[in-house]
Amino acid sequence: MSAVGVVAAAGSGSRLGADRPKALVELAGRPLVAWAVETLLAGGVDEVVVTVPAAERAAFAAALPGRVQLVEGGATRTASVRAGLAAAGPGADVVLVHDAARPLTPPDVVARVLAALAAGAPAVVPVLPVVDTTVVVDDGGLVADAVPRARLRRVQTPQGFDRATLLAAYAGLPEGVELTDDAAVVRAAGVPVATVDGDERAAKVTVPHDLHLAGLQVAR
Ligand code: C5P
Repeated sequence: MSAVGVVAAAGSGSRLGADRPKALVELAGRPLVAWAVETLLAGGVDEVVVTVPAAERAAFAAALPGRVQLVEGGATRTASVRAGLAAAGPGADVVLVHDAARPLTPPDVVARVLAALAAGAPAVVPVLPVVDTTVVVDDGGLVADAVPRARLRRVQTPQGFDRATLLAAYAGLPEGVELTDDAAVVRAAGVPVATVDGDERAAKVTVPHDLHLAGLQVAR
């Protein structure tokens, strides 16, 4: 089974407040995107495509191994992944879509996703339980409802797919519909999505505190 990785790295990262796109922000001296690419390769992915902001192609090329293919991302994550998929080699049987914003994802997570695909799942996501009490609030900020958390899961990346299944699902997604992850795209096409164990270390870097925590993790 041959696997291609698509790393979504074309976001601006405005919530992080950095002076550069989030994927180029450094963690222990290396850009987040370099960590994410290394995780995919260490976990068993054969080739990697990275979607980048058009104006930053040279900076990404300098930060990544030469074997990594760079493609221009879009205005939204959905558009960026579409661009990455179009550039991903047609020889691959499966695709893993990963966020550059999850730099410390252990390669074991990649291996679990690949194993589920090899076992026949058409789509698979790493998940973790929800540990906080979770509620719905109304427009005024009052708690309107409590959500039983036993069956809730937080969804991480990389998310793995049979390549043909993912391409067909994106082809069937109307332009302009934006979904926050790729499993939502295949679910919209009626494809069952399996789960494997995620990992707390695969936490997403969104706000400055997340980067601080990631820094503590690599300092150990
Ligand atoms: O904004 P957020 O952190 O949810 O983005 C998740 C991932 O999607 C990030 O790695 C970001 O670089 C990527 N992205 C992208 N193209 C966009 C917006 C986000 O590749 N237009």
